Amino acid sequence: MNKKFYVTTPIYYVNDVPHVGHAYTTIAADVLARYYRLLGFDVFFLTGTDEHGTKVAASAQDAGKKPKQFCDEIVLRFIDAWKRLNIANDYFIRTTDSRHEKIVQALIQKAYNNGHIYKGTYKGLYCIGCEKFLTETDLVDNRCPLHPNRKPVRQKETNYFFKLSAFKDTLIKAIENKKDKNHYEILPEKRKSEILGKLKQGLNDVSISRASVKWGVPVPWDKTQTIYVWFDALLNYYTATKFVKNKTEFWPAELHLIGKDILWFHTVIWQAFLLAVGLSLPKTIFAHGYFTINGQKMSKSLGNVISPANLIKKFGIDGTRYSMLSEFPFGTDGDISLEKFKIRYNADLANGLGNLCQRVAALAENAKLKITNDKLKLQIKNYKAYSKFFSEYRFNECLAWIWEKISKVDRYIDQTKPWTKKGESLAKLLEKPIREIQEIAYFLKPFLPETAEKIEKQFKGPKIKSGEPLFPRI
Ligand code: MSP
Repeated sequence: MNKKFYVTTPIYYVNDVPHVGHAYTTIAADVLARYYRLLGFDVFFLTGTDEHGTKVAASAQDAGKKPKQFCDEIVLRFIDAWKRLNIANDYFIRTTDSRHEKIVQALIQKAYNNGHIYKGTYKGLYCIGCEKFLTETDLVDNRCPLHPNRKPVRQKETNYFFKLSAFKDTLIKAIENKKDKNHYEILPEKRKSEILGKLKQGLNDVSISRASVKWGVPVPWDKTQTIYVWFDALLNYYTATKFVKNKTEFWPAELHLIGKDILWFHTVIWQAFLLAVGLSLPKTIFAHGYFTINGQKMSKSLGNVISPANLIKKFGIDGTRYSMLSEFPFGTDGDISLEKFKIRYNADLANGLGNLCQRVAALAENAKLKITNDKLKLQIKNYKAYSKFFSEYRFNECLAWIWEKISKVDRYIDQTKPWTKKGESLAKLLEKPIREIQEIAYFLKPFLPETAEKIEKQFKGPKIKSGEPLFPRI
């Protein structure tokens, strides 16, 4: 078997339709998956939907639908959005899939049998938006800071608890010591310090089941309870590898890509549970930043939610993919706006890449140029700088590096003025820019797959023809 690369996105709640926040993580995962495929790895790229729990059940009720029927409808919106963004995931998992549910039950049973689960009473505040219990210190003005519109609900129930506290030292060692057999990376570095700091303060056990939530997977030894939605959800990363054909050897994941909002679940609770059931741990968890829109949090009540479809309509598929990843570094927070995207689209895509291809193609067509370097062999492993950006998740810098090449070719054309030449000497002058455009197309494959393919086709022998602009100006 070739080297494998298993990458996941969070599975998104189907309480609502997809928005750009979901698209952001999914595009990044797609770029990585495509990059590793180019490198010749066996890739498993998994995304999907999180369909159980209070939040989804409440949205279904508001829509006057049965939960499953509601999920079946909303999930299509996610599948469609990813298809439209040219997301090449290998599988799309839904937590209502009975194959997933069965494995979840078997694993919880195993943790129970291994003595990691006990019965207890929970008293506390629950945020339905986060689907988690809050502590008093989490609150800002008595509200969850992430969901100020949803009043936290006071709950008291008898639940089953997972002995998270027992894993404190094992986890600290696994994170800090690269030689530890359970070692995993948390990136960026500042997220790792954040988690280590919290871990060292001590861990409370967590409730792993719900008596009051009907829409969930039943606890196997006590059918009056359902499994807490977050445990059901996290397990998707493992269950998929057990039932998706050809991917059964893929656990553990090389990379979980997540937003910073769900870091604790993905770097503490998840690992502790895996240890409790004797499974190996994922290698890296990378948490990207959150973006605001025109300086504001994206929210329904502010009416500023952007859907992937909005963006595709304005900027096209590759315009959307480019805008999202080039705007700010992947690991930090940033601000986006349609206005910023438009400026960047016109400057980098319409005037930059698009214009260069059109210019060179037109000259080549005039020169009736015969392409001789069709067999140009490009191999990513020969481009150290390019690969380094990927191994460090620096997508915006990788794009800037490619765009630097685009400007260089532009300058070469300005300086050598091929339009003043004819015949042989024109053909000679065009060799270099054509080769570089072919190279640029290759580098663009993970980011802008459709555009890369168009450029490759256009600049392939024997005859280069000018064509439609790749990115019409907006
Ligand atoms: N269902 C859980 C995840 C379970 S994974 C085992 C969940 N779903 S969610 O629908 O709320 O999606 C959260 C994810 O959406 C974030 O982690 C992040 O990937 C993405 N984003 C949502 N809003 C975002 C921004 N404003 N900015 C960037 N990413 C954002 O949590």
